[in-house]
Amino acid sequence: MTHEIAVIPGDGIGQEVTPAAIDVLEAAPVDFEFVHGDAGDAVLEETGEALPQETRDIAADADATLFGAAGETAADVILPLRSVVGSFANVRPAHAYPGLDAVQPQTDLVFIRENTEGVYAGIESEITDGVTTCTRVITEEASRDIAEFGFDYANQNGYDDVTIAHKANVMRTTDGLFLDVAESVGDERSADYDTALMDALAMHLIKHPEEYGVVICPNLAGDMLSDLAAGLVGGLGLLPSANVGPDNALFEPVHGSAPDIAGQGVANPSAMILSAAMMLDHLGYGEEGDRVRAAVEDVLDSGPRTPDLGGDAGTEAVTDAIVDRL
Ligand code: NAI
Ligand code: MG
Repeated sequence: MTHEIAVIPGDGIGQEVTPAAIDVLEAAPVDFEFVHGDAGDAVLEETGEALPQETRDIAADADATLFGAAGETAADVILPLRSVVGSFANVRPAHAYPGLDAVQPQTDLVFIRENTEGVYAGIESEITDGVTTCTRVITEEASRDIAEFGFDYANQNGYDDVTIAHKANVMRTTDGLFLDVAESVGDERSADYDTALMDALAMHLIKHPEEYGVVICPNLAGDMLSDLAAGLVGGLGLLPSANVGPDNALFEPVHGSAPDIAGQGVANPSAMILSAAMMLDHLGYGEEGDRVRAAVEDVLDSGPRTPDLGGDAGTEAVTDAIVDRL
């Protein structure tokens, strides 16, 4: 069966790393049909809409979506797209790779981030001049879904350490609920787990990442802690992610459109290619996914490398090297 893949490159380096991932998928090789969709700052300027209905439909109808990055319109693009595909779990692995100058070479973390609520529910108001509020939504149902997904992920992927991140000492009602539900899911499964206050956890992750494995997080905490982990392993150019729902999924690098380097052809394609590898796993091409990861790791170790990793190669040269390994 040919899978249909929605491809939405977006803005900035999204336009450079997305074609790299397609090259690698074609070399994997897998028989995908790619359907192109537009979204982001440039489309907003052209059409008045950052996420046209046609693009939503393409993503909704496809078997999976590959998304590059959006710029200033990111919140208007990626948040609705994650909901179009019905994803509730954002999976963000942060591994240190051999041969790279990682701050913490023992890092092997996977953030399982709740993807639908928290402060990203988008309920903000200006009550009066100079006074604004943001409503933090935490529900039992979404907390249970993300905790079950996190414990299952740890179990299926051989992680012994599960940590539930929260700030229930201050946000007693919302994170109180998140923590209670996540703990009961762990208890129901007789799983080993720890709980950690998210601010202290940030410090511990920097000092001793090797003591952690899967980290189950509310939405904002997962966003921040995974970027922190990117810093531990060598930068945002290395972190892939999956947004997974019951029937559909979207794969994207953790990074944004990187306007500071966009258009120069020097973006690191690894995060995007590793996101495509997560898509291969998800669609049942685990062997191809492993081969893509091995090729990326090989090239990260021996070069060529992009400037963010201390090299002087461009996106295309690195992609060609990965395709050659395949
Ligand atoms: P960013 O991730 O775009 O860039 C942060 C830093 O990391 C920059 O110095 C950039 O050059 C570097 N970097 C990121 N990816 C890289 C790669 N593949 N290779 C080499 N270096 C890389 O985050 P920033 O600067 O905070 O945001 C830039 C724009 O991206 C903003 O307009 C923001 O709204 C948007 N954004 C979009 C996201 C999305 O579409 N999911 C996520 C995060 C930001
Ligand atoms: Mg982020």
